[in-house]
Amino acid sequence: MNILITGGAGFIGCNLAAYHLHKGDSVFVVDNMSTGSHVNIANLFSNPSFQFEEADILLWDGLKERVRWAQRIYHLAAIVGVKKVLEDPRAVMAANIAGTERVFRAVAAVNPAAQVIVASSSEVYGFNSKAIFSESDDVVFKSGGRLRWCYAVTKLSDEYLAYSFMKKSGVKVVIVRLFNTIGPHQVGRYGMVVPRFIDQAITNVPISVYGQGQQTRSFCDVRDTIVALDLLASCPAANGEIVNVGNDREISIQDLAEMIIARSKSKSHISCISYEDAYGIDFEDITHRRPDISKLKRLTGFSPRWSLEQTLDTLIDLARAKLVSI
Ligand SMILES: NC(=O)c1ccc[n+]([C@@H]2O[C@H](COP(=O)([O-])OP(=O)(O)OC[C@H]3O[C@@H](n4cnc5c(N)ncnc54)[C@H](O)[C@@H]3O)[C@@H](O)[C@H]2O)c1
Repeated sequence: MNILITGGAGFIGCNLAAYHLHKGDSVFVVDNMSTGSHVNIANLFSNPSFQFEEADILLWDGLKERVRWAQRIYHLAAIVGVKKVLEDPRAVMAANIAGTERVFRAVAAVNPAAQVIVASSSEVYGFNSKAIFSESDDVVFKSGGRLRWCYAVTKLSDEYLAYSFMKKSGVKVVIVRLFNTIGPHQVGRYGMVVPRFIDQAITNVPISVYGQGQQTRSFCDVRDTIVALDLLASCPAANGEIVNVGNDREISIQDLAEMIIARSKSKSHISCISYEDAYGIDFEDITHRRPDISKLKRLTGFSPRWSLEQTLDTLIDLARAKLVSI
């Protein structure tokens, strides 16, 4: 199968590309390398079925040609991460909304039969205070122009773009609401918590927990995420659906920090930092984010295979090996 991955040199995209090449598919990655990296895809070039072009999805003149070629398109290109969003919200709005619209326009024009998977986010649940989020729950944002919600609004816009092109142009699309994803190739410098904690733990410096650490999250190993995405793309009943993708185990950030210290046998202690010190503004965090994954299970039979402990052990080993090689 021919597969186009936008944003395929990023964390989730490079894992997805490697997975599909391993299955025998042909993979074309386009990425502007804003947060993606050549290191992520370096080992894929030896496979003759892998192709890559460095280009911005907003301007790429090869888009229609590659969309015509593809049987499946994973649209992952986006500006992600709290730090990036607060630094340049205008760029986030442009890349995440106009970029998605451009992809859908190309699909509608030259290949409406292609199966599109578009990456939305658990962030769209916003301030909804339910304990566990399912796809039919309300999205709740605060008014007042807080830039923190920029990213969530772009992802909700992407969902409605997907619906519009589905209804009006017959595009085949599955909208995946990804919850916190962790695993190989994720980096901490854009604010992602697990790689940041692990880097701190293996160098025995204080683990910086933002706020009081009582906020909870559910972490899914990317090696599970990519299987779920492939299953959804192959499932006719998922077409036109919004589906949560994640792992439904929940852990507080304080407990996560303690688990990483214990598993890496680190001498680090935990240091709580205010959101204002961390982000330079009065940042509103969400208290919890746990997915209801019953729809994903019902549609595909999927269950996460990697426990949080296994994932952390893998990541600690990888981070140590990287430290030694520097
Ligand atoms: N990682 C998570 O926990 C998570 C959670 C929810 C949703 N998502 C979504 O999943 C997708 C992948 O996220 P990720 O974690 O791999 O992030 P990432 O930043 O590693 O990947 C995004 C990729 O898109 C590329 N990109 C950005 N703007 C582009 C543009 N204009 N043109 C071409 N390429 C561009 C970046 O260079 C990067 O390689 C994103 O759409 C993100 O919103 C991720």
